[in-house]
Amino acid sequence: MPKTLIEPFRIKSVEPIRMTTREDRARLLEQAHLNVFKLRAEHVLIDWLTDSGTGAMSVDQWAAVMRGDESYAGSPSFFRFEAVVRDITGMPHVLPAHQGRAAEKVLFAAACRKGGLVPSNCHFDTTRANLESLGVEALDLVVPEGLQPALVHPFKGNIDLERVERLLAVQAGRVPFGMLTVTNNTGGGQPVSMANLREYAALLHRYGKPLILDACRFAENAMFIKLREPGYGQTDIKHIAQEMFSHADGATMSAKKDGLVNIGGFIALRDDAWLERLQQLLVLWEGFPTYGGLAGRDLDAMAVGLVEGMQEDYLRYRLRTAEYLGEKLDALGIGYVKPTGGHAVYIDARTVLPKMPVRHYPAWALCNALYLGGGIRGVEVGSVMFGRQLDDGTETFHSMELLRLAFPRRAYTQSHFDYAAEVIGEVKDEADAIRGVRIVRQSKTLRHYTCECEWV
Ligand code: F0G
Repeated sequence: MPKTLIEPFRIKSVEPIRMTTREDRARLLEQAHLNVFKLRAEHVLIDWLTDSGTGAMSVDQWAAVMRGDESYAGSPSFFRFEAVVRDITGMPHVLPAHQGRAAEKVLFAAACRKGGLVPSNCHFDTTRANLESLGVEALDLVVPEGLQPALVHPFKGNIDLERVERLLAVQAGRVPFGMLTVTNNTGGGQPVSMANLREYAALLHRYGKPLILDACRFAENAMFIKLREPGYGQTDIKHIAQEMFSHADGATMSAKKDGLVNIGGFIALRDDAWLERLQQLLVLWEGFPTYGGLAGRDLDAMAVGLVEGMQEDYLRYRLRTAEYLGEKLDALGIGYVKPTGGHAVYIDARTVLPKMPVRHYPAWALCNALYLGGGIRGVEVGSVMFGRQLDDGTETFHSMELLRLAFPRRAYTQSHFDYAAEVIGEVKDEADAIRGVRIVRQSKTLRHYTCECEWV
């Protein structure tokens, strides 16, 4: 058997990507105030800013788009979508939303009160921001292994059950529900084991608290369970996914990830305690409960994408892609969050820029250097994203300085990865010339999306 894991698809429709010169990119980055979020996508050669909504749909999904029924209420597209989500999650109540953060906003507004506290392994930035905007504390309790980039552990996304137990013993009154992000995006795209999920759910249930899964990347998580957790090697992905959801009481999902669509999301719930309030808020903010801010065609594309996203050949190739880039980084002597995650590789910028002080934002600096070096766009997951400027002008910094390269699904081929590895190697060879930045304009929350910077 050949060892090369080829892309399990052929390409029927192509999108050109444009080469630029280094001089072009230097000018364009200056115009973007040294913030790659502000670049025009056509000026990016390899766009690894996010895996969210950036994947390629299949022929069956495009066919489903044509089947989409645009009735305002009771569209058959909704019922096809609902049947798929019910089948995977085992949850009877399915509410579409236009994307993950909309699902979060609606669910949290219905289920949380000011002064509450929601534990998770790590909250994604929109999850945190949605909770905090309601005056709810978002607490990250990932296992200590999850905070050590170089440490190899099969399930670095696990939640620290002892800390959850201690928290519930004292503060259960503040907790409306527990969350768990699969895979743990802000912690390096690392998976959560079935055992951890099961025990966390049992612990919450002992205190009468529901478990809500942030299920964006449930299929990638299920594949990691198949590959790494004893007892699951022969189980198919759908059954693993169903078992994961069987422990939860609800889920929010951005289908822009493992739903293989460009837009879409949902809330799923096992019981109807929050349902009425949820439906009211959904109508107010997203739309009638059978379309939730989406077109009928989007619902049909999701129905097909959610099933395709669980295909084992696809998932095997998907996880292998990240691992392949990881091996190239090993050969270059560059540190990254190990093992590689499902949807992304997180380079430890301190291993490329060990001398750059954190106040010059090394991961942001490396991000800019990759764009200048080869037109590659990643995203900083470091002190610009998670640090804060306090009212007295001083700064808080993040514990890690990571550069995330997140891979759109079914969109880039192996030669794109080879090219990226070459660019990263060249950037590392010239690391002494990489300049840090200072932030000159920023917003109070989610500052990384819009901040403007200057070279130090
Ligand atoms: N939860 C997780 C774990 C996510 O990764 C994201 C989005 C969301 C919720 C919100 O979903 O974007 O559809 O509103 N993550 C993207 C990323 C943006 O680049 O990691 P959304």
